[in-house]
Amino acid sequence: MNAFDLKGKTVLVTGASSGLGRQTAITASEHGARVVVTGRNNTRLNETYELLHGEGHQQILADLTIQSDIDRLVGALPILDGLVHSTGISELSPARFITEEVIAKTFRISFDASVLLTAGILGKKKLAKGSSSIVFISSISTRYPFVGGAMYISAKAALEAYARVLALELASRGTRVNCIAPAFVRTPMLNETAENFSQEAVNKIEERQLLGLGDPVDVANTIVFYLADASKWVSATNLILGGG
Ligand SMILES: NC(=O)c1ccc[n+]([C@@H]2O[C@H](COP(=O)([O-])OP(=O)(O)OC[C@H]3O[C@@H](n4cnc5c(N)ncnc54)[C@H](OP(=O)(O)O)[C@@H]3O)[C@@H](O)[C@H]2O)c1
Repeated sequence: MNAFDLKGKTVLVTGASSGLGRQTAITASEHGARVVVTGRNNTRLNETYELLHGEGHQQILADLTIQSDIDRLVGALPILDGLVHSTGISELSPARFITEEVIAKTFRISFDASVLLTAGILGKKKLAKGSSSIVFISSISTRYPFVGGAMYISAKAALEAYARVLALELASRGTRVNCIAPAFVRTPMLNETAENFSQEAVNKIEERQLLGLGDPVDVANTIVFYLADASKWVSATNLILGGG
């Protein structure tokens, strides 16, 4: 069997109704995984579901900022070999405009949701013992910050710290935990950045990345590596996908 194969593995992908999550679900299915996709938007989640290769996939709508939705999602899950956290929002808040609400909004989806979903899955024993894998999508901005990104970047930094502890806690049961930290990738989130700033700002970002903007499939292929047995000796890493 090819070490990059996902045949026989079941993978949950959050944020699968858009961008990196959608592409990760599709690419994982191309590698043979049975995929459970989750997101909030029914139409877009179903579009992802229709794009999956092979059979046996599931789609489950859930707002991961609502505990009862997390509980319902966990209850409906089969035993997983892989878990990819790809939810997030990219609202920008200059420091002087940060309020309790801004902090709560960003952290609830970019940090709390992943942490609480992971807790639910572990608590209900829905993650296979042995060679299982959890992947968090952080951001290169924890190392190369940008103006106005204080909350987004702080939530990602918290997620990276959480992932390192999780890797320690789960190693003895054979679960690997890794983060990837992409630079700018062509997704709806990047379009929002263009709207919040300007197309010129996005052009400047592209010029700074030696290999230009990433495509979602560049991120998805890396996540497949982390889900597959090819990475069975890789845990507690945080891989920068920066285009150089
Ligand atoms: N794109 C980039 O350049 C880039 C770079 C570095 C890191 N990242 C990170 O990569 C991840 C994915 O980004 P993306 O570009 O794919 O973003 P995206 O296209 O905006 O997708 C975000 C996903 O998160 C889901 N989501 C948002 N709030 C949710 C909630 N309350 N409950 C459940 N799902 C929710 C959305 O679901 P619905 O649409 O169904 O609501 C959507 O599927 C994020 O964590 C982002 O920070 C992205």
